[in-house]
Parts: sequence; structure tokens; C-alpha cells
Amino acid sequence: MTSRLHQFLTRSPYQQYVYGYPHKTAYRRFESPRPLEQVWASERKEARFLYVHIPFCEMRCGFCNLFTTVNPVETVVEKFLAQLEVEAAQTADVIGPATFTRAAIGGGTPTYLDAKQLERVMTLMRETMGMGAIPLSVELSPSTVTADKLEVLSQATRLSLGVQSFVEAEVAAVKRPQANGDVTKTLDLIRARSKAHLNIDLIYGMEGQTESSFIGSLETALRWRPEELYLYPLYVRPLTFLGKRAASWDDHRVNLYRAGRDWLTSHGYVQRSMRVFQRRDVAELQRRSKDAQTGIDERIRKLEPIGVTLDDKQFLADPEEKRQYDEAFALIRKGDFAAASAGLSGFLKRYPLSGYVDSATFWLGNAQYGQRQYKEAIASFRSLLARDPAHPKAPEAMLAIANCQIELKDSRAARKTIGELVQAYPKSEAAQAGRERLASLK
Ligand SMILES: C[S@@+](CC[C@H](N)C(=O)[O-])C[C@H]1O[C@@H](n2cnc3c(N)ncnc32)[C@H](O)[C@@H]1O
Ligand code: SF4
Repeated sequence: MTSRLHQFLTRSPYQQYVYGYPHKTAYRRFESPRPLEQVWASERKEARFLYVHIPFCEMRCGFCNLFTTVNPVETVVEKFLAQLEVEAAQTADVIGPATFTRAAIGGGTPTYLDAKQLERVMTLMRETMGMGAIPLSVELSPSTVTADKLEVLSQATRLSLGVQSFVEAEVAAVKRPQANGDVTKTLDLIRARSKAHLNIDLIYGMEGQTESSFIGSLETALRWRPEELYLYPLYVRPLTFLGKRAASWDDHRVNLYRAGRDWLTSHGYVQRSMRVFQRRDVAELQRRSKDAQTGIDERIRKLEPIGVTLDDKQFLADPEEKRQYDEAFALIRKGDFAAASAGLSGFLKRYPLSGYVDSATFWLGNAQYGQRQYKEAIASFRSLLARDPAHPKAPEAMLAIANCQIELKDSRAARKTIGELVQAYPKSEAAQAGRERLASLK
């Protein structure tokens, strides 16, 4: 075994993981700064994700390296919100009209803000950024949730509560002061006041946590029948107080993970990823509505015009029209000129107004040339030149006419055509080839 492979297989499975927003896969290196307009110019704008980060918390948990500030003075919060509004307006302006399909408010702890401040965030998302009635996920911590904040967040379709553990000693060991009474009151409040799906975050691998205490936390969490549970292994930065642990800690986390996974999957949950578990009925409902949506999308896709770019031209084509053109063109590639000729002439009769007409005419000429039908080929190439003399294939069409004339032993006509080609498109490759042809013509 190579030493690198050996190292990889024997190192901690939880090594070098930095938990933070945006996800590490979202980062890319830019050689030089790029203006937002430029960055967005080539991006799809119809399916964007709107994310607002609130970098404030009432505590700094010992394990957390998310981007956040603890108990900032009120003026900092106000200044942050004012700046957020300015930057949202600038961003919306730069990006222009576009639609969001999902949104999230994360942190930190968004519910660290009071109801009025949260209202400002919602207004900014709706009015400045143009967020419609789309799925919205919000992160909360137990002692910051109140009924009036839930009211402001009534559009939320998913509320995610950081609990970490229902054993107070375990959360205390990771320096997260949290009273179980607050946690259960908040969960009751959320279930009473919100229709959103509930997610509960739990962590495994904390000091003093055992398999049975972890399963105990899962059991307690299920009292509120959360639609979703996130099980995080406790990630620690190397060389920190929490980071200096024995290798056996890795085994401990792996064992807890397996125990939690097995317990949840035998208690009505489906595993979605290493961390995500979804209530089985919710997963089933989502699967059915996704299947139905895929069916609708499929049917709509068959009818909706498709944007096509061909020979420097952009146009819309029916899916069937595109399919027929592509099929006939593929026959040219295969060298089956008779079938291509039939396919392209049929296409031109069926779709006389199609954006494909010029290209189809050009390739019909080629298919006819391939069958030695030189007169028909000349007619096709001439028809393209008459329709659009500026077509990118026009010089090639003229050269092809000359070639047909040579095949028909009419070198006088061929010379004349090449002369016209050189005059009309002097810089084209076809004109260059024409000049060479001319030299060899007797
Ligand atoms: C933004 S917080 C959730 C909302 C709120 N701030 C709270 O803590 O209750 C995101 C979640 O990430 C998880 N998390 C953060 N840092 C972690 C770490 N180092 N190891 C494991 N989980 C972590 C915690 O489960 C936490 O609930
Ligand atoms: S409250 Fe949440 S975001 Fe804030 S420090 Fe703790 S885990 Fe991190």
C-alpha cells in the first residue's frame, strides 16, 4: 500500500473539516476582482437561492466556528441591518430581474434579532430582492424564540432549531449554556404557532456522551415528531482544547453515528445523507409530489419551445421541429446522403418558416452534392444565398456551387462563381480555397 493511501485510510475520518457558510464547495479562485454584473452575466437567473446571514448569537458555543459575534451592542446590530439593506439594493440592481426558488436565513442565530428587526429582514428579502412565496428556511436557537418572532416568520416553510443534546451536562461540556426547560418550551411554541416543517440539530461525540444518552436525546426529540433531524458529529479544529483528543474518540463518534442511524431508521426515519434524516411519511410525500412534478415537467417540456443557437443565429423551435432537424443532420454526418436529402426536403416542406431553414437548405445542397445531383445542389445553394447573403455559410455555399459547376464540366461558370466569391467574401476561408482552385482550373 502506498504511504499516501495508508495515511488516508488510517487518519481520522473527521479531519480537516471546517464547518462554515457558504459551504466550502461554493468557493472559487478568481485571478482578479470581477464586477458583480460580469459574474452574473453568464449565470442562470431563473433558479437562484437567496441566503441572508445574521452574524449574531447570545453565546459562543465551544465547538462553533461559524461567522458570528456574541452579544453585540445594539448599535452594531442596527448598523449591520442598515448596511444589509444598502447591499441588498445594490445587488438587486446589479443582477436585474430574476427569480428565486429557495431562500434561507441562517447564522449565527437569526432569531437573535427582535421581531421588528426580523421584519426588516423579511421586507428586504421580499421587496428589495423580490422573494415570492417560495420555500424559506430559518435557523433558531432555543432561548431566542418568541411568539411574535414566529409570527413575523410565518412564511417560513422550515424552522431549524439547534438543540445539540437534551442532556444539560453534555451541552455544558461544549460550553453551550442551555436549559432543557427552554428547549422544550420552544419546541412546544414552534409546534403550536408554526406550520413550518421542524428540523432539530443534534451533535454526537460530546464529552460524557454515551450511546444510551445519545439515543435518549433522539427519543426526546421524537416527542415533537420533527420532519427532519440533522445529526452532526462534533467537529473540532485541530490543536484546540477540544481538538486534542485520542484516536479512540473517532471510534466513539463512528459508534455513536451507527447507533443513532440504526435507531432512527427503525423509528420511522429515512436517511438522506450522512447527517440528514427525514420522517418517513414526509419523505414519501415528497417523493410522490416530485414524481408528479417530473411527469408534468416532462409533458410541458415536450410542448415548450426550445432556444436554439445555430450558425450565429438564435431562435425558438418546437421540440419536435428540433428533433427532426437534428435527425436529418445526423444522417449527413453518417454519410447517408440519400436519407439526409429526404429528411431535409421533408423538413423544409413541413417547417417553411423555421429558424432552421437556411442551415437545412445548406445541408440539403451538401447531401445532393454527395449524391452527384449537381443541378439540384446548385439550386439549393443559390436559394440560401438569395435568402441570406450574410449567412455564415454563404461563402462555403458559393464555393460549393463552383465545385458543382466543375463536376458539370462548366469551368467558365466555375471561374465566374469563384470570382464572385472572392469579391463578395474576400477574407473567408472559402475565398482562399477558391483562389487555389482557380489556379488549378484549365
Ligand atoms: C447556525 S447553528 C443553528 C442555530 C443556532 N445558532 C443554534 O446554535 O442553536 C448551526 C448548527 O451547526 C451545528 N454545528 C456548528 N458547529 C459545529 C461543530 N463544530 N460540530 C458539529 N456541529 C456543529 C450545530 O448543530 C448547530 O445547531
Ligand atoms: S448559537 Fe449556534 S451559531 Fe451561535 S455559536 Fe452557538 S452553535 Fe454557533
